[in-house]
Amino acid sequence: MYENWEELENSIQNCQKCKLCQNRQNIVLGQGNKEAKLMFIGEGPGADEDIQGLPFVGKAGQLMNKAFRGLGIDRNEVYITNIVKCRPPANRVPEEDEALACLDYLRSQVMLIKPKIIVLLGSTALKNILGKEYGITSSRGNWIEQKGILYMPTWHPAALLRDESKKIEFWKDLKEVAKKYNEINVK
Ligand code: URA
Ligand code: SF4
Repeated sequence: MYENWEELENSIQNCQKCKLCQNRQNIVLGQGNKEAKLMFIGEGPGADEDIQGLPFVGKAGQLMNKAFRGLGIDRNEVYITNIVKCRPPANRVPEEDEALACLDYLRSQVMLIKPKIIVLLGSTALKNILGKEYGITSSRGNWIEQKGILYMPTWHPAALLRDESKKIEFWKDLKEVAKKYNEINVK
């Protein structure tokens, strides 16, 4: 665990803790408000993210931006990151050893940000954060509370690009998140 952002940011520079270091252009640590009440966790950087060093800036990111606009949430208010911070080759799912090697950074981010709500975007985020016993199809749309954090699993935005029917569920889940987020903000 890293005690502060400086320690975390210094440690991840030139990280070679897993094989994903071999093909990356940039490490994508995350982006947004370091005091966010609401955090989003995706899978891993894609090609655009790898080039820019920022999360969710490609096609899936444009969908997220659209969702934020629809919900009335400013992207700069929240914090967005991924399970792995380096791009897996051909956007394959991160392997177990890679996710495990990278998890210390994510755990430290959560510890430093102290979000109230975490949206888990897709199966990779769900399984690596809450456990392998969780499945995205049955878990999505349901709040799961753990150690004072409310987790909402939902579809990964890239899944919506492949399957239109998931859009309705994704939107429903995020509306639920926005509702809860607004309740927390007025408290
Ligand atoms: N998909 C992800 O899971 N994360 C990104 O940052 C971009 C696409
Ligand atoms: Fe290090 Fe994570 Fe990148 Fe692997 S994915 S090299 S653990 S920063």
